[in-house]
Amino acid sequence: MDLDALAHLAHPTHLRELFRTDPGRATRYVVEAGDLRIDYSKHRLNDDILASLLELAQDSDVEGRRDAMFAGEHINVTEDRAVGHSALRMPVGSTFMIDSENVVPDVHAVLDSMSAFADRIRADDRITRIVNIGIGGSDLGPAMAEQALGAFRHPRLRCSFVSNIDGADIAGVLADSDPASTLFIVASKTFGTVETLTNARTARSWLVDALGEDAVIDHFVAVSTNAERVADFGIDSENNMFGFWDWVGGRYSVDSAIGLSLMLAIGPGRFREFLAGFHTIDEHFRTAPLAENAPVLMALLGVWYTNGLGFDTKAVLPYANELARFPAYLQQLDMESNGKSVTLEGERANYNTGPIVWGETGTNGQHAFYQLIHQGTSVVPVDFIGFAKPHHDYPEHHDLLMANLIAQSEALAFGQMNEAEPWRNFEGDRPNTVILAEQLTPSVLGQLIALYEHMVHVQGTIWGVNSYDQWGVELGKELANQVTPELTGDPTPDAHDSSTNALINWYRANR
Ligand code: F6P
Repeated sequence: MDLDALAHLAHPTHLRELFRTDPGRATRYVVEAGDLRIDYSKHRLNDDILASLLELAQDSDVEGRRDAMFAGEHINVTEDRAVGHSALRMPVGSTFMIDSENVVPDVHAVLDSMSAFADRIRADDRITRIVNIGIGGSDLGPAMAEQALGAFRHPRLRCSFVSNIDGADIAGVLADSDPASTLFIVASKTFGTVETLTNARTARSWLVDALGEDAVIDHFVAVSTNAERVADFGIDSENNMFGFWDWVGGRYSVDSAIGLSLMLAIGPGRFREFLAGFHTIDEHFRTAPLAENAPVLMALLGVWYTNGLGFDTKAVLPYANELARFPAYLQQLDMESNGKSVTLEGERANYNTGPIVWGETGTNGQHAFYQLIHQGTSVVPVDFIGFAKPHHDYPEHHDLLMANLIAQSEALAFGQMNEAEPWRNFEGDRPNTVILAEQLTPSVLGQLIALYEHMVHVQGTIWGVNSYDQWGVELGKELANQVTPELTGDPTPDAHDSSTNALINWYRANR
């Protein structure tokens, strides 16, 4: 079975018909993984399609590549690195070998020093504000998770996340902070990212102007893999740096020291529950047969839609305000991983790969773009995410919220015929997954993230791409370096194409 063959499979009939002729699908097409209940019955799927998809997984060696990842092989071939984020959440005493070394003791050594630091800051009344400066994986993970776990936040500590090189971002945070009570975390795997270093320098000057040079030691820590650059920046890399390793990809790093701001917010104990949640799904992914393996099943549905039916976007719609940043987090996880058109063999992929991922919380999205999902000409497969118990004291709100989630899932799948008034006709047959858990806890959040991480891994395997590099971001960075001096220095006419030259000239004239 290969990707090409997917397009030739007999399409199943409408979901109305599938449910009418097969009432058992509502229990058969549900998979449980950890605390997550994943209902994939409202998909354009029947047992024949599922069997073909599972055959595709077998033939693509999904199990082999999964095992290679857990064995610490250098599956990130273009950077010649292992892919070891699963080691970050392994319990003390377990083994994850990378380059002939068990990395788990190092992982726990860093966790222990993060925990000691977090305990100290959480007990120190002088610090009330944490500002994480980072971008991409060094921002989205902790920012998303800190918001998601707001119910577990330390009452005194307020976290802010500065990522954008747009000065408006840091200006807003600094204007609202007091130097004496602010702790900056400069988070950058490479410690070479221009946005982060620019923001960090600005924050440093702001602090030094107010409190003097000596204050840097108490108000700045770094999270990085590059101790030399941290020291060059002026942060004590011996005592004020928390490290991680090149086998942790930026978008897979929220469970490394990059999660320090989250640990400060929720405390070391809760952070370890978060890690345990990831580990639960790692174990599920590692051991469950393909047909009962939640990340594998979700990945196969995505491949079926991308390559079998030609749907090229996917919406993630959490019915939990706390998960407002989850779609943005998943955009990096999925699109930076599988937005590739070159295969592991270095050839052009002659089929579609990673989908465009987007989303918004429910019910807000219902009053914005759901119109298109219900009646538009593009079919958008949807993941709904919801919880039985909220973290607030307004149960009537929560019942309404969940009623909407369940109703949207039903409406998309089954629609409502109206031949007399075609504008009121809902065709239905719009596929959706419903992911439910009892409550959004640190463990459940870890489980959700790991579910998507492994889904992305399986899809990358089937598409034959390297999900762990991101060369596509390089050209823009290079050209920005070239353009920056041209905006203010001596003009270099005609250095670019005519449009780019005109843009530069317009900016020079109007800045
Ligand atoms: O430009 C993309 C990227 O490399 C992401 O993969 C990464 O998460 C982000 O930049 C930030 O990188 P760093 O943590 O090294 O500052």
